[in-house]
Amino acid sequence: MHIEDHPVFGNKLHEQVTIYFEGQPLKAYKHQSIAAALMANNVTKLGVSRKNVQARGLFCSRGRCYSCYMTVNGEDHVQSCMMRVEEGMEIFPNNEDPQIGSEGE
Ligand code: FES
Repeated sequence: MHIEDHPVFGNKLHEQVTIYFEGQPLKAYKHQSIAAALMANNVTKLGVSRKNVQARGLFCSRGRCYSCYMTVNGEDHVQSCMMRVEEGMEIFPNNEDPQIGSEGE
């Protein structure tokens, strides 16, 4: 669902971009957060919890809980509710721990 006539933003939210979720192209709108764009495309599972291995999704939607972190353009642990979409952005769910400190070993 996309709001066509937003009472505050007017038509500022009409510029389309293409993002890629697990390699699949999805339609998004400039100024949307990554999480909002994914939700609009029926993607609700943003990753898997480390401890309980359960699906993670949007929770606080304001950068406080880290439930929405994803890998964006190769960078792990990006808060998808706080970052806006950009043309050609490549997004993957975080399903495991990042490879911290493993470079050069
Ligand atoms: S949903 Fe809580 S930080 Fe993004």
